[in-house]
Amino acid sequence: MPRLGVNIDHVATLREARRTTYPDPITAAALAELAGAQCIVVHLREDRRHIKDRDLRLLRETVKSSLNMEMAATSEMVKIASQIRPDVSTLVPERRQELTTEGGLDVIRNREKVAEVVRTLKGAGIKVSLFIDPVLEQIRVAHEVGADAIEIHTGPYCEANTPQETEEELKKVIAAAKEAYNLGLEVKAGHGLNYFNVSPIAAIPEIEELSIGHSIVARAVLVGMERAVREMIALIQRPPLSQSQR
Ligand code: PXP
Repeated sequence: MPRLGVNIDHVATLREARRTTYPDPITAAALAELAGAQCIVVHLREDRRHIKDRDLRLLRETVKSSLNMEMAATSEMVKIASQIRPDVSTLVPERRQELTTEGGLDVIRNREKVAEVVRTLKGAGIKVSLFIDPVLEQIRVAHEVGADAIEIHTGPYCEANTPQETEEELKKVIAAAKEAYNLGLEVKAGHGLNYFNVSPIAAIPEIEELSIGHSIVARAVLVGMERAVREMIALIQRPPLSQSQR
């Protein structure tokens, strides 16, 4: 059964909608941990549109489980990560105008740059995960550049429009998870997962951690953070449904 990493970026998004000091993502992280989250995930973006440097600093002091900093492979972010020392850095591609991360990191095309950033972060004692599409060659290169883990991009699976398309995308995630596991990489997955689509992904035995943000924060607005986290954990720890039950 995978662990749950809760991404709290959108608690900060709500705060920034009015440029207030609340809701505070630090409080949200504490509540998520109390409800059983085993990792707190934040994306410090170049434009600081939600999470701020202050949030990252305070989270480093207060998070008791594990802190995963999503970041672009830029020198500014490498410097900040090396100072803050999250438990894990997840390298993601970042485009200024995007609403959220749009695709996986192209490790094949950016091999040298990614290898250098992986080396620097690992040298600072940080585990490095690469957010990549479920493409076998990307996974092999992720392994070659020295990543400790990969996070498989589940966006295409979540956005599939028909049951056949969903099944095809799920097969890609399953194959990617197997490949990464066989190479000795730690396997995570995330993006777009919600209370309705998470179960088949949670049932993939090689996946050790799920990173989920928007759906949990959205539910937390209505039912509270602790209940939203508990309900997600209950879903991802449920024994997998057989093919006929799906
Ligand atoms: N994983 C990565 C690498 C992401 O960039 C995000 C979004 O910040 C997530 C997981 C969580 O995605 P969602 O908010 O759709 O659950």
